[in-house]
Amino acid sequence: MNTITSKARNGADWAARLLNPIFCTPELQALKMQLHCAALESADAGNAFEDVASAHEGSLSQMQRLHAIDEVRNELLGLGPLEPLLSDPTVSDILVNSAKIIYVERGGKLELTPLTFQNDAHLLAVIHKIVGHVGRSIDEACPLVDARLPDGSRVNATIPPVTIDGPTLSIRRFGRAPLRPEDLVGKQALTQGMMDLLKSCIAARLNVVVSGGTGSGKTTLLNAVSSFISSDERLVSIEDAAELRLQQKHIVRMETRPPTATGLPAITIRQMVVNALRMRPDRIIVGEVRGEEALDMLQAMNTGHDGSLTTVHANNPREALSRIEVMVGMANGNMSVRAIRQQITSAIDLVIHVSRYSDGTRKVSHITECQGMESDVVTMQDVFVFEKSGISAEGKVTGRFRATGIRPKFTERFKALGIEVPTALFTAIEEVN
Ligand SMILES: Nc1ncnc2c1ncn2[C@@H]1O[C@H](COP(=O)(O)OP(=O)(O)OP(=O)(O)O)[C@@H](O)[C@H]1O
Ligand SMILES: [Mg+2]
Repeated sequence: MNTITSKARNGADWAARLLNPIFCTPELQALKMQLHCAALESADAGNAFEDVASAHEGSLSQMQRLHAIDEVRNELLGLGPLEPLLSDPTVSDILVNSAKIIYVERGGKLELTPLTFQNDAHLLAVIHKIVGHVGRSIDEACPLVDARLPDGSRVNATIPPVTIDGPTLSIRRFGRAPLRPEDLVGKQALTQGMMDLLKSCIAARLNVVVSGGTGSGKTTLLNAVSSFISSDERLVSIEDAAELRLQQKHIVRMETRPPTATGLPAITIRQMVVNALRMRPDRIIVGEVRGEEALDMLQAMNTGHDGSLTTVHANNPREALSRIEVMVGMANGNMSVRAIRQQITSAIDLVIHVSRYSDGTRKVSHITECQGMESDVVTMQDVFVFEKSGISAEGKVTGRFRATGIRPKFTERFKALGIEVPTALFTAIEEVN
């Protein structure tokens, strides 16, 4: 499906909903108000709803009346305007900027919805419901909260005074099946040849960092390449909010804990990485390194847990390593820059960088080998790059995945393990148009 028609369709869809009188007529507003009152007054709201609605038979169609009942029911029992968005499988992110402004992401593109909460109090009630469900609370003392919906979707909520225009919610949908390696190739996020190379890198136990910006597809790619890990290896995964869906059986999944309302202290990623080393894993998978745990992660990679994987937020592969350098510096202020870089180069073999493009697609823009040090500088060599050439008439990003012609040093390791990679791969060029 090309982007223009899907855009037009989405546009028409929203327009239809906007024009749908359910959003605007005073008649409907009145009915909804009466339904709310009925719910407050009657123990058996179900029957009361029917009665109240049938009084509007003359002015509203049956569809409209049923729709109004559904909406009020959602508001009372569910998550209000979030309900229709959560039951829409094409919605991947829901971003509530304030009670009256709700954006969604579909097919990689953000769009403003006509849906709204009644007011801040309504939005706050929904937030309380969501965070309460996972045993957390949000209040002045703790105005920033991560939570999860029953389907696994990741939620972040904030309230004033830290957000100025009222409460906010950001939901990363997670109900759908995760993208598999073949799905990513099918979506032209990378070529089959690049994916084959990554498969060999996992088999050869290279330590891999996936880097990229916010929402660029880091976790998705990490999840996909993790499927190449053989099922007889013991894995420990460590995350802030469990998102990875690793299929292996021999796995221990760990999740951080913020300080609890009852006064129990936080359990950090760093504590878990240190603890994981005592759990005898073959590989450690850290959802994202953000701070001091970077040092422990590098040490784990350097001490027998090769084949470990993580992600880091960065704009390009070199920045990924310099961000890790800063994190290690925070963990141990006494280490010289040179010593930190040595740790990094001996630990990390490969950086896979993902980027999000203007058409909403995500692509592996770099597969970069971390080769070693030259004087005080880390040497990095791109093996594959995506070169954007333009935008097609349909609004699609065009370009090519190009092998740089460099045969990475780690292929030496492949040889020793009997892993074969066709030489032609390192000169391959594949157009995306
Ligand atoms: N190659 C792809 N093609 C299309 N959609 C993708 C692709 N990769 C990821 N996505 C979608 O993009 C969204 C963000 O993906 P993901 O959570 O992996 O990003 P992230 O970089 O880990 O984000 P964050 O910065 O929040 O950790 C998800 O909805 C995911 O399904
Ligand atoms: Mg992520």
